[in-house]
Amino acid sequence: MITLKNVILRRSAKVLLDGATVTINPGEKVGLVGRNGAGKSTLFALLNGGLHEDGGDFSMPRQWRLAQVAQNMPETSESATDFVVAGDTRLVELREQLAAAETAHAADPDDADAGMALAHAYTDLADAGEHDAVPRAQALILGLGFKVHELDQPVDSFSGGWRMRLQLARALMCPSDLLLLDEPTNHLDLDALVWLEAWLQRYAGTMIVISHDREFLDAVTDVTLHIEHAKLTRYGGNYSKFEDMRALQLEQQQAAFAKQQEKIAHLQKFIDRFKAKASKAKQAQSRVKALERMERVAPLLAEADFTFEFKEPANIPNPMLTVSDASFGYVQEDAPPKVILTHVNRSVLAGQRIGILGANGQGKSTLVKTIAREMGALAGTVTEGKGLNIGYFAQQELDVLHPGSNPLEHMVRLARDLGPQSRERSTEQDLRGFLGSFNFSGDMVKQPVGTMSGGEKARLVLAMMVWQRPNLLLLDEPTNHLDLATREALAVALNEFEGTLMLVSHDRALLRSVCDEFWLVGRGAVKDFDGDLDDYQRYLLDEAKRQRELAKQAAEPPAPAPAPAPAAAAPAPASPRQASDGDGRAQRQRSAQERQQRAEQTRPLRKELASIDARLASAGAEKSALEARLAQPLPAPEIADAGRKLKLLGDEIEALEERWMTLSEQIEALAA
Ligand SMILES: Nc1ncnc2c1ncn2[C@@H]1O[C@H](COP(=O)(O)OP(=O)(O)OP(=O)(O)O)[C@@H](O)[C@H]1O
Ligand SMILES: [Mg+2]
Repeated sequence: MITLKNVILRRSAKVLLDGATVTINPGEKVGLVGRNGAGKSTLFALLNGGLHEDGGDFSMPRQWRLAQVAQNMPETSESATDFVVAGDTRLVELREQLAAAETAHAADPDDADAGMALAHAYTDLADAGEHDAVPRAQALILGLGFKVHELDQPVDSFSGGWRMRLQLARALMCPSDLLLLDEPTNHLDLDALVWLEAWLQRYAGTMIVISHDREFLDAVTDVTLHIEHAKLTRYGGNYSKFEDMRALQLEQQQAAFAKQQEKIAHLQKFIDRFKAKASKAKQAQSRVKALERMERVAPLLAEADFTFEFKEPANIPNPMLTVSDASFGYVQEDAPPKVILTHVNRSVLAGQRIGILGANGQGKSTLVKTIAREMGALAGTVTEGKGLNIGYFAQQELDVLHPGSNPLEHMVRLARDLGPQSRERSTEQDLRGFLGSFNFSGDMVKQPVGTMSGGEKARLVLAMMVWQRPNLLLLDEPTNHLDLATREALAVALNEFEGTLMLVSHDRALLRSVCDEFWLVGRGAVKDFDGDLDDYQRYLLDEAKRQRELAKQAAEPPAPAPAPAPAAAAPAPASPRQASDGDGRAQRQRSAQERQQRAEQTRPLRKELASIDARLASAGAEKSALEARLAQPLPAPEIADAGRKLKLLGDEIEALEERWMTLSEQIEALAA
């Protein structure tokens, strides 16, 4: 069991957890959610011992074995398989023990103890699953989307995203009691994602996973921990359930707050009206007490909603660029170039919004990188329109940030590099203002980028891109790391962008909302894709089938343990969304009904109260006017008349106030 009691957790001046109390039971599958920068990764640092609590108590069973994905990019020439096998730390330990026992035994073959130790080492190793370690590792590697021929390739021959997948496989290889996964889906495509879901559903230990992906969380978690405003709240359900419960909670809190505010206003009015009246002073006094004793319902803290926009491009060349009979691919050191795409003939026109589709490894990023001038074409030409200004966003861009510099320094550098044409809008104050519009306010503009959260870094890269005022946006998986609200803001900004957009994303909602035509990268070519995303989904399934058939025909030498059900065939995880949706809605409906009933009951009373209020106001005014008149020297009959009127008014006001008080008490009683 993991327990946090009143835990306080800080990062320099920032308090990320303040009095967090929560329990996680063995075997629970927990989703840890919250906005970018809320402190999710920091909480992981507490769990894995990287950080100490600044207050309160944190405890976890000492003997628990912990597995987590290393965050560094592996640099080794070890084969993919060996690298992943080594993730089984117990196995590695036992192998070392065996080697030591073998050495000892070889040194003195007659030593009975050494012989015994050797025998033990063998059995321990067998118990730890030595015999099938390799096929187990390979099943993980293949499941995460690698090809059979890649199993023995050196780790450093893979691109960054793929090496991070190997890190994930290595963590899954490790037998563990607690598995910590920090945004594991960021480097995965749809196939691998579905495979990972299936794997995690079978995982027997305790798991905590951080993710901004609703569908993934729903598939693999049954408890949700939410960090917000330094509070940690546990919800007994997956993400959708959590959203429902939270919506209900917020609604109730909002309703309770509104109700209380109304009551406070009412009491205050009563007090103001009667505090000076000796006859009613007691009632007024008791209400003053009631006000003082009232436990206040907190108002909802409005989430600082984040929006941004792309500036109108200074110019928009048309065509943006033209690719003629080009081949794209990689230049290799000791081998002929690796050609990925051939006969590419494409024009990109002003204002086009192109979604680039294609299964993993087909060359989407190669295409985008070549257009972004990160790599050259192997053959043919890429002709750019005059004044083309590319805004390129790729996951690796996060590495382009300087960990030691802060956001302000990044902006200053950018402004300087862009030259004098931008100088007018690059005073420090301008840059601070600009960063502020991207939610980097106050101290954060001076925080070294190396200490920022993943989502904060991605937001900074976005900000820097916007500042360059591009006319062609090339976005390669821009939503990784971003929380849902920021994704939403990006989608809105992209929709309003006036230049040309080329987007690679596995976020189907984003593709759907911002692209109106698609290119398909596959089988070595780039073509128009004639259809929508649903057609594409079908295409992917067919393509997966074709790949499997091809693999079968090629009859690979004894295939290692088969990867669990290929994505296409994996059973769709049961959708708990509908059920929970139904529950939540019913509950919300009930409480809305109750509120309405109460409102019905008090409505006539309120109406009468309002009219009394109005009459009291006018009677009060008449009374003051009369009193003012009586203060003047007047002829006797007029004095008598005014005096009579004043008396009548006084009686009326007294009666109205009496009624006002009765009504108030009735409303208070009904509302309670
Ligand atoms: N060493 C540090 N000094 C100052 N601030 C820090 C430091 N480390 C982290 N922070 C800040 O603490 C906050 C929490 O960071 P953390 O990485 O835990 O967020 P997160 O919830 O994982 O966010 P994301 O969803 O973006 O990954 C962030 O605002 C981050 O900038
Ligand atoms: Mg994080």
